[in-house]
Amino acid sequence: MITQDIITFFITFAKKIPNNMTHQLILILDFGGQYTQLIARRVRELNVFCEIVPYNYSIEKIKSKTPKGIILSGSPQSVTQADAMQCDENLFQLGIPVLGICYGGQLISKAFGGIVSKAKVGEYGRKELKIDNNGDLFKNITKPSIQCWMSHFDHIEAAPKGFEVIARTESCPVAAMKNEAKKIYAIQFHPEVEHTEMGKQMLENFVIDICNLTPDWTMGNYVNQSLAKLKKQIGDRKAICGLSGGVDSSVAAVLLHKAIGKNLICVFVDHGLLRKNEGDEVEEIFRNQFDMNLIRVNAKERFLTKLAGVTDPEKKRKIIGEEFIRVFEDEKKKLGKIDFLVQGTIYPDVIESGTDKAAVIKSHHNVGGLPKDVDFELVEPLNLLFKDEVRRLGKELQIPDHIVMRQPFPGPGLAIRILGEITEDKIKLVQDADWVFRDEIAKQGLQGEIWQYFAMLPNIRTVGVMGDERTYTHTIALRAVTSVDGMTADWARIPHEVLATISNRIVNEVRGVNRVVYDITSKPPSTIEYE
Ligand code: XMP
Repeated sequence: MITQDIITFFITFAKKIPNNMTHQLILILDFGGQYTQLIARRVRELNVFCEIVPYNYSIEKIKSKTPKGIILSGSPQSVTQADAMQCDENLFQLGIPVLGICYGGQLISKAFGGIVSKAKVGEYGRKELKIDNNGDLFKNITKPSIQCWMSHFDHIEAAPKGFEVIARTESCPVAAMKNEAKKIYAIQFHPEVEHTEMGKQMLENFVIDICNLTPDWTMGNYVNQSLAKLKKQIGDRKAICGLSGGVDSSVAAVLLHKAIGKNLICVFVDHGLLRKNEGDEVEEIFRNQFDMNLIRVNAKERFLTKLAGVTDPEKKRKIIGEEFIRVFEDEKKKLGKIDFLVQGTIYPDVIESGTDKAAVIKSHHNVGGLPKDVDFELVEPLNLLFKDEVRRLGKELQIPDHIVMRQPFPGPGLAIRILGEITEDKIKLVQDADWVFRDEIAKQGLQGEIWQYFAMLPNIRTVGVMGDERTYTHTIALRAVTSVDGMTADWARIPHEVLATISNRIVNEVRGVNRVVYDITSKPPSTIEYE
């Protein structure tokens, strides 16, 4: 959301306050495996708190977190490589239960003198797991064999001394092993993946029984703990929050409002590039329903003046980002002393990954040009939560569903859905067409199946015929995608009849449009947005 993007500008200059809530903790050491976040989400689904830290987290840091259990993740690497990622092996001496998954399991084997080697054939996908011991890790799994999900080439060939083999597959002699006395467990398959039958049960066995954790990390408890902490931290001082109406900033603002009431000042910068009626809806909900101290800045003209004549996508993004900061700062100056800046940063943004960051395709996550005079402490009440947990928190706080379940909307708004120069007429055209699209998707009850859907203006005119008249007007493109996280996406298979109704309505209800096209490209190679 725009507020989040822009406030990222401030972060470097704001003092970070550690989020020191006290939960019983499972620590996940990240070796860059593709399922690391999934492991964390599965643990949290058990109502147990967990954190992801880099694989080389020092033993002192591990001890200072006082985890009740440690999970070592998978990795794209091989433990047999000379420069393979290693954890501090002292962690095996702490007396804390450890579960190694795939690469993590092989590391355990290596650390205790077992043999890890390249398998004759790799195992990928569903495999039959034969269970030898239905004790601790496999408690409550009564079948002698189940389906598990494998994704590996290396495997543990022979268990180290002191370890008992507790499961195998046809080509994997040590699919699971344990050292019960030390409470150290290694498994080759992925219990966090849906395709592993009873995978959740295995994680529960480890987390609840073996680590002896109480499943008390619920949203209700999270709200109570957060409120107590925020009240203590902020007291009767003032905090400012950039509100966009997006899920994260809305949930952060409502939580803060519950904690400090009118001492929270929300600034909603309406750059005029929001969807139809969106600005008014945000104002209605937060000012009227939640009774928040809300400043709405109608800055459309300011933004459009700066954007006049600009056609380059990256320039548009930069201009909007910089102008947003100026507007925000202007408002802040009028407010006198403010000590805190609230930001809706969520957990995936703060996980210190063990691996390098991916290439930057668009500039929205790392815009430049930081102001030098910011003097806030930063409050990030969502920085321990995954997106679905933020949504659950929003529901707990009774934020309406249409905000909590809202589809993603880019910070620069419609500016990046209008190719070429942005004008008021084009904004209106795209807003109206987009409104019809959303209305029809809602009427057909398809919202839950589509991750993101919107209308955009490719800035092309074509010849058409309406009535007996020749027309030469705009084309509207519709984009709808299914996705899990926005990183990859596929075009949504909206039924043809629904597309026909939408197209028909747009050309009839939106003046200046004589053609509607549907985008049938996945990401990659395209991106979801157009600029
Ligand atoms: P792309 O176009 O890169 O978009 O495939 C991936 C997801 O990110 C959203 N997006 C943005 N979100 N500020 C945001 O907060 C931005 O500048 C921005 N640009 C793209 C996009 O809507 C999609 O959900």
